[in-house]
Amino acid sequence: MSADEPVVSMRDVDIHFEDDGGLNPFAESKTVRAVDGVDLDIPENDVVAIVGESGSGKTTLGKAAVGLQRPSAGTVSFRGQDVWAAKKRFSNPTIPYSEIRRSLQIIHQDPGSSLNPHQTVESSLAAPLKKYQSELGPEDREARILAMLERVGMTPPHDYARRYPHQLSGGEKQRVALVRALLMNPDLILADEAVSALDVSLRVEVMDLMLDLQAQFDTSFLFISHDLSNARYLAEHAGGRLGVMYLGELVELGDADEVLRDPQHPYTKVLKWATPSLSLEEGAAEPPVREIDIPDPVDPPSGCRFHTRCPYATEHCRTEAPDRRSVGDGTHRASCFRIEEDGDYWHSEPLEGASLDADE
Ligand SMILES: Nc1ncnc2c1ncn2[C@@H]1O[C@H](COP(=O)(O)OP(=O)(O)OP(=O)(O)O)[C@@H](O)[C@H]1O
Ligand code: SF4
Ligand SMILES: [Mg+2]
Repeated sequence: MSADEPVVSMRDVDIHFEDDGGLNPFAESKTVRAVDGVDLDIPENDVVAIVGESGSGKTTLGKAAVGLQRPSAGTVSFRGQDVWAAKKRFSNPTIPYSEIRRSLQIIHQDPGSSLNPHQTVESSLAAPLKKYQSELGPEDREARILAMLERVGMTPPHDYARRYPHQLSGGEKQRVALVRALLMNPDLILADEAVSALDVSLRVEVMDLMLDLQAQFDTSFLFISHDLSNARYLAEHAGGRLGVMYLGELVELGDADEVLRDPQHPYTKVLKWATPSLSLEEGAAEPPVREIDIPDPVDPPSGCRFHTRCPYATEHCRTEAPDRRSVGDGTHRASCFRIEEDGDYWHSEPLEGASLDADE
């Protein structure tokens, strides 16, 4: 383990689910390729926002990053320690699994789900502190909880500490969930659709609070949203990165402002087109795709998975899968043959309805 080691490092991670059809004896067993070939490093004090359509594998990827979903292939490491190897009994890891668990926290979409309806806010917040910071006495524990409630704007904190979850609004529940995660003094917080269930007016408020807490505690954030405007707000304000998922693959990743200013993957352009505040050009009434329907992750398209919808797809894209390649200085990467100025793609026949210069 070295100090420069990323907090979390994912290497060539696949997560495939076997779906045996449940109780239906005639159903064929299927493999859902939720995540395929994902590489992602999250260093300290980093903010990464992941965006993509429903079912593109965002939640599965996020859970894998915080050690809650075991990869089918590839590795997930915490500061250089393989997370799943650390979990094995008698493994003698450099970082104990309990330490990894404490360091990787999650905030769910439904802020109520992490709160016991029969416990006051204070009891809910005290439980993990008792487990992971057992050296704290009851008074120190209470002081820490009250200080954090105040920190997230729940004042007077004594009043909120005594309340039950049903006595809190959605935004307040999400603040308690944030406090609960932060009390663990984590290195990384996964916020999975953490603002999606909130009223539009509250979303910015909770995102601003996350940004503020992130800056104050230097905690890294992996923020997941199906909504590019939320992902953009968070990533751009944090000076962080934006990642785009399509059918289980991380097809583009780079500094948020660069990815949005100069998207390299045609699918990122589709997301941008669909986000009114970011629309590419005036008057583009039709989405820049040949096909609206999203293919099934049980049987993803051959070659580049976006070829069935991509307006620039060629025969080459139908048979060959592009690697993630660097744009410019190397931190911005995307999986599309068009990034290379030369190559077989440019000499290949466009697919029906596609064109090499579709946007001209
Ligand atoms: N436990 C599971 N068993 C079988 N299939 C699963 C399981 N979890 C997820 N999937 C499938 O994996 C794919 C990716 O799901 P995931 O929840 O990661 O997508 P998502 O991008 O988070 O979607 P959403 O925006 O709707 O939350 C989907 O096809 C989903 O049905
Ligand atoms: S590799 Fe081909 S099909 Fe895939 S996104 Fe690029 S141009 Fe489109
Ligand atoms: Mg999800």
